[in-house]
Amino acid sequence: MFKSKKAFSLEGIDKGHHKVTYKGVPCIKCPFDYVLYQMIIDEIKPDLIIEIGTNKGGSTLYLADLLELQGKGVVHSIDISDGCSQLVKDHPRISLFHQGWENYDLAMASNYSKVLVIEDASHYYPSTLGAIQKFSQVVTPGSYLIVEDGIIDDLGLKKEYQGGPVKAIEEFLNSTSEFEIDMKWVNFFGPSATFNTIGYLKKI
Ligand SMILES: C[S@@+](CC[C@H](N)C(=O)[O-])C[C@H]1O[C@@H](n2cnc3c(N)ncnc32)[C@H](O)[C@@H]1O
Repeated sequence: MFKSKKAFSLEGIDKGHHKVTYKGVPCIKCPFDYVLYQMIIDEIKPDLIIEIGTNKGGSTLYLADLLELQGKGVVHSIDISDGCSQLVKDHPRISLFHQGWENYDLAMASNYSKVLVIEDASHYYPSTLGAIQKFSQVVTPGSYLIVEDGIIDDLGLKKEYQGGPVKAIEEFLNSTSEFEIDMKWVNFFGPSATFNTIGYLKKI
């Protein structure tokens, strides 16, 4: 008879999340965070999502389909390469930018009334801090700047990422009173059951 082993491990989820696909396109997200994203989008109803870090575009496609379900909104997804699937390129709600977050013109976000930003690029501390400092400006009050993969600390990889996203978030929050961590999402599935530990930053 099949006997189930006890609780799943962080290492198991980490390994599995690298294999997740959406509509057949790799989408590197923790399963808990998939669910949180659709709830956040339903709550905020953004008309622009800026995603920093497209990779193959599975997450971009997922976000764009959620916007399609709500009947409005577009995704601007930024990377440094053009490696994503045709399905992503053809989606009417997706615009792709390949020159890195450093070269995205923030004026492109100025005509939208509800802007949500997701930072999911290299995860190196200096780049993460630079990206969140820049893009925090266009997040609209009540919406979120979601900084992914603080879980790097818990996986023991902090040094490899020069401090990683958590160091960047802490430094950023020390420099502003415009954002606060929304613990509602951090602890939704139990304490810190998300890969975006301390990463749900709400603009006040
Ligand atoms: C973790 S992956 C993104 C995963 C994707 N959002 C998903 O959930 O499937 C990180 C991506 O960030 C990109 N990247 C690295 N430096 C960047 C930069 N300066 N600007 C934008 N994207 C960058 C990498 O090329 C890579 O495709």
